[in-house]
Amino acid sequence: MKIALLGHGVVGSGVSKIIDSGRTDELDRLEVKRILVKDESEMTDPRTTLDFNDILNDPEIGLAAECMGGLEPAHTFVKKALESGKHVVTSNKKMLAVFFEELMETAEANHVTLAYEASVGGGIPWIADLTRIRRIEMPDSFRGIFNGTTNYILSGMYSEGKEFEDMLAEAQKLGYAEQDPSDDIDGMDVRYKCSITAAAAFDKWIDPEKIPVFGIRHIRKKDLDWGRSRGLVCKLIGSGKKNEDGISVLVRPVFLKENDTFAGILQNYNAIESISATLGKAVFIGQGAGSLPTAHAVVQDMIDIVTHTHRFAAEKTRAAGTVNTEPAVWYIRTSCPEAFTAVTAEKTGEDTILTKAVSMDELLPAVRACEDPALFLAEVAE
Ligand code: HSE
Repeated sequence: MKIALLGHGVVGSGVSKIIDSGRTDELDRLEVKRILVKDESEMTDPRTTLDFNDILNDPEIGLAAECMGGLEPAHTFVKKALESGKHVVTSNKKMLAVFFEELMETAEANHVTLAYEASVGGGIPWIADLTRIRRIEMPDSFRGIFNGTTNYILSGMYSEGKEFEDMLAEAQKLGYAEQDPSDDIDGMDVRYKCSITAAAAFDKWIDPEKIPVFGIRHIRKKDLDWGRSRGLVCKLIGSGKKNEDGISVLVRPVFLKENDTFAGILQNYNAIESISATLGKAVFIGQGAGSLPTAHAVVQDMIDIVTHTHRFAAEKTRAAGTVNTEPAVWYIRTSCPEAFTAVTAEKTGEDTILTKAVSMDELLPAVRACEDPALFLAEVAE
């Protein structure tokens, strides 16, 4: 099948590298015909073009891989490609999470596949495995370290005693971070991935805006030192759980017990687990970011499409789901601990407290009232 790449940055260039190497029968079935690039400086390959219409109007191209990132023009290009009867593979979690409903409907209406393995967990075959689990049962819950950049930062701060800023600069240099690393450190990237995972796991589309999110922008070494003194390791965790009222889904740093599997996930590795009735707990660990691992997942989706291995119930549309959260104990470092008096269980330092087990609804009014721009908050595993 002749294919087009939309974008030739970190992921797109990895995709062309893997396909052009053509080492297997499956790879031989894919040929990159066109590559859409942003400007002339990227036109180093005869297949490159600056005009999306060269791809859209080419009937030979049966599949487009969107590796551009960002909302627009990625969303418009994906929609037009689906409407013109081309399959689409995307690594763009932000665009997919926001337009999930609309794009799945478009794929379904045009009898094509929209596949998105690379959008969650980089190279880990998470969506593929989740889809296999779904053939037998709906998972009860999922939980994961979904972001390589923040795991790299937290691991380095914990193991090497470095400060946040130094580790962020290293993660950016290694190509793990988003173009704007705010999406990584403020938890937005994980929020998108949880929205997509909830759709794949529970058949419900959760508007990412509705998922409560706390990032690690304000974490300091002293927070990790506090955790260490209590046998706890901090990780940025996204999770989702079915309950009677809807789906409890949340992104926040969590102080995990040292013997928790996720506490030992180092560097930029991601780890994601699902819990379901007959399989029980299944944990998937691997490279969650970076050029070739993410490109590997994009190419796997392409091969599934070209070999007609439709493991992805991708075309299926999802009804909107209701979000809620369950009570938890929180570590809070703030210049105004008095704002949390009503929920405080223990004052652990001058500017740090531990709360009673409280729901988001009880916690958020105090977070807002305190108006501390440098507040750091993390759930504490019980
Ligand atoms: N910035 C993302 C991360 C890339 O660090 O995990 C993969 O989604």
